[in-house]
Amino acid sequence: MNKNLLVPFTSLILLFLFTTDTFSQKVSVKDLTVEHLVNPLSVDHPKPRFSWKIISDIKNTKQRNYEIKLGTTATIGKVLWKAGVSSDQSVLVAYDGPKLSSKTKYYWQVRVKDNHGNTSAWSPVQYFQTGLKPEDWQAKWISVAGKDTSLASPLFRKEINLNKRVKSALVYITAKGLYEASINGNRVGNAYFAPGWTSYKDHIQYQVYDVKQSLKTGGNVIGVSLGDGWYKGRIGFNHQKQFYGDTRALLMQLEVEFADGSKETIVTDNTWKTSYGPILAANIYDGETYDARLERQGWNNTGFKEDLNWKPVQELAFGPEKLVGMSGPQVTKHEEFKALKIFKTPKGETVVDFGQNLVGWVTLKAKGPAGTKISISHAEVLTKEGNFYTTNLRTARQQHTYILKGGTEQTFEPHFSFQGFRYVKVDGYPGELRLEDLTAVAVYSDMKTTGKFSTSNPLLNQLQHNITWGQKGNFVDVPTDCPQRDERLGWTGDAQAFALTAAYNMDVSGFFTKWLKDVAADQLPNGSVPFVIPNVLTQNDAGSAGWADVATIVSWDMYVSYGDKGILETQYNSMKKWVDYISSVAKNNLWNTGFHFGDWLFYRPNDDNDGRAAVTDKYMIAQTFYAHSTQLLINAAKVLGKTEDVVKYQALLDQIKAAYLKENMTPSGKLVSATQTAYVLALQFDMLPENLRAQAAQRLVDNVKDYGNHLTTGFLGTPYLCHVLSRFGHEDVAYDLLLQESYPSWLYPVKMGATTIWERWDGIKPDGSFQTADMNSFNHYAYGAIGDWMYKNIAGINPVVTRPGYKDILIAPRPGGKLTSASAALETVYGTIKSSWTLTDGTFKLDVTVPANASATVVLPGALKKEEIGSGSYHFESKY
Ligand code: BGC
Repeated sequence: MNKNLLVPFTSLILLFLFTTDTFSQKVSVKDLTVEHLVNPLSVDHPKPRFSWKIISDIKNTKQRNYEIKLGTTATIGKVLWKAGVSSDQSVLVAYDGPKLSSKTKYYWQVRVKDNHGNTSAWSPVQYFQTGLKPEDWQAKWISVAGKDTSLASPLFRKEINLNKRVKSALVYITAKGLYEASINGNRVGNAYFAPGWTSYKDHIQYQVYDVKQSLKTGGNVIGVSLGDGWYKGRIGFNHQKQFYGDTRALLMQLEVEFADGSKETIVTDNTWKTSYGPILAANIYDGETYDARLERQGWNNTGFKEDLNWKPVQELAFGPEKLVGMSGPQVTKHEEFKALKIFKTPKGETVVDFGQNLVGWVTLKAKGPAGTKISISHAEVLTKEGNFYTTNLRTARQQHTYILKGGTEQTFEPHFSFQGFRYVKVDGYPGELRLEDLTAVAVYSDMKTTGKFSTSNPLLNQLQHNITWGQKGNFVDVPTDCPQRDERLGWTGDAQAFALTAAYNMDVSGFFTKWLKDVAADQLPNGSVPFVIPNVLTQNDAGSAGWADVATIVSWDMYVSYGDKGILETQYNSMKKWVDYISSVAKNNLWNTGFHFGDWLFYRPNDDNDGRAAVTDKYMIAQTFYAHSTQLLINAAKVLGKTEDVVKYQALLDQIKAAYLKENMTPSGKLVSATQTAYVLALQFDMLPENLRAQAAQRLVDNVKDYGNHLTTGFLGTPYLCHVLSRFGHEDVAYDLLLQESYPSWLYPVKMGATTIWERWDGIKPDGSFQTADMNSFNHYAYGAIGDWMYKNIAGINPVVTRPGYKDILIAPRPGGKLTSASAALETVYGTIKSSWTLTDGTFKLDVTVPANASATVVLPGALKKEEIGSGSYHFESKY
């Protein structure tokens, strides 16, 4: 970018186009949630929190007061709690009525009055259902009798008779392993990989489904099949199995209320029967073997005679683990992709291209003689010769085998396994494989898309696309490093690097709320935080700088993004334990012990005779994260009013920074590791005295130039690189890096045809060859952390930490990089923010929308003046 453009211009014209406020005087409320979820069915929180959005066409609308009514009937006839409060709080308002009972459905509605004197109508009635207390569980855990040694998926079956008309029916269900349940042949719910992955030794989630529609008067059948999942299956790269236990088990309680008011509870117990079905083996990494000849026709319906030969189940004792309601979204099916091309590779393989690297599976239609075996293998990329490439999957087989039963066409899809792929290889297909025989289905946690981002540069738009798909594929109940090889673990470093970007693209409030509980649960007694959460590695695999700091970083990020003070309350102890752990291993306030991954996957050329590899001292990095985590703990302590902690940790922070300078900086401000990451972290976390910051930023710029406008950062430096450049006035350099098309850069993979973010800057080298196969994922979101800078700087949508959740917004777009337009929208807890600009013939035009009950400060590029605005849509123009 031309630096002259940054010179404050003289002729700034602000032009406000006021919309006619007479159009409507109305105010209304929408998008009601409880604990971030729409009508949740298993709320454990003793004082659940309500949120709503306010809709109004009138500018500068704020909530003056709200009223909430809550009761136990759908009409809220008898009001159990009523709140009428003079407040502008519309997000996460805590219930404050009489103690809620467990297992109870509560109905609520809200209405608001705004600052213009308008009162909304009462919202439609919404509900939430409280979770079960331990004593509410009448069901017994059941499993196959004897040792659960078979690889095949057991089926469980129970026939029940309901002799009255059903008024309501809820099923509470969970498993050790994964379950797929049906009633009278209808699948229960649309969740996959339930009950989800948590630190099972500490807690297991159960789900609640409304199954009234599937039940009928008379005979009914409940059928459940179980898979190994994370509980018992292979997990981790050390070929480990049965990490949580060796026995798959089911726990289910169906509570029916009849039209006459009577109730019946049907539970898993020793009256259930079991057998094996068509799933011969199912494993998350390896895939599934399904023999259609073994389908038990009608097994989950009445009139199934074979049941007589089924075996009794065994009841198991309840373990020490807690059963908890779900606090995050379920994993569900999303986009479908048609097969684009079927072709023969030079090796003669039959390969199908779906055009997008995604996570989920392929549904396959096939018809052929009984016993025909079709296998379908998955790969992310082809070799430069055009052959199917699976070496980077390491030991994950990612292959399904379907055995046909003959007769009519059947459609196959796996049940307890997901794959990361763009291409599939099909072997043994009977007859000609046609495009319409295959559909790829993306499967991921059901998070609402909240962000949209586009610019006049198609490569950047593709980068945004790739970031989003990196997120989708790796947000399958747990934030994972990658979705395809024998890993797929909740790597903490990756998650902390990407969390803010994730919170722009999708509503990840529930997703991270759930996962942070596991961070706390798996935190070691000494306060150290494991490399992966849930921790399936050893107790020693913990405490790496930039990884373990997830405890403070993601908690704070969620607070800022969603205004959820509760998350800080819940996580505070974990945050503090983490900082105290570092202090316990630090010597003279220096964190210079232990193993650290460092600036993982930083730039290092082959045959590095000139020391061009961007190696940053690991303890130097550690010290900056020590400071960062301490700062975030102080921030949280301030929000929560923990004054003593503020004082205590502020004193510690001063010592951490002093120790850093003494150890790592020369008197003239040079850092001992003169890398981009070193300067980036020092500047981002305010490690340097103010008078030495500008020169440090200049050293960073010089370093970038020295590498020919290339970045050299790894996992830890990358998320902050452009932020630091922007903050210190080097927007042009930030844009140079962003738009750099040659390796190493964000756009290099885009130019190479990537459809997701790669693990390495050069997963595929310019000559088409691959990086080392044992660590070369093509779907790793960490470097996608640039998305945060793109939303904040290009589109200019920033949260204001003192008024989190975008109650107050800073709109400060910074054009550059020859972009002629950019546009973004963000659906926040208050409503939609929009910021969209064009730059033509020296005129910068900006359109901004601020949701009701929020406010914004607009700073036009280069302007010295700030504009404070309330809700509504505004237009600005300035010379630029
Ligand atoms: C993972 C990473 C992770 C790293 C630790 C890798 O195997 O894929 O993304 O953060 O190990 O350095």
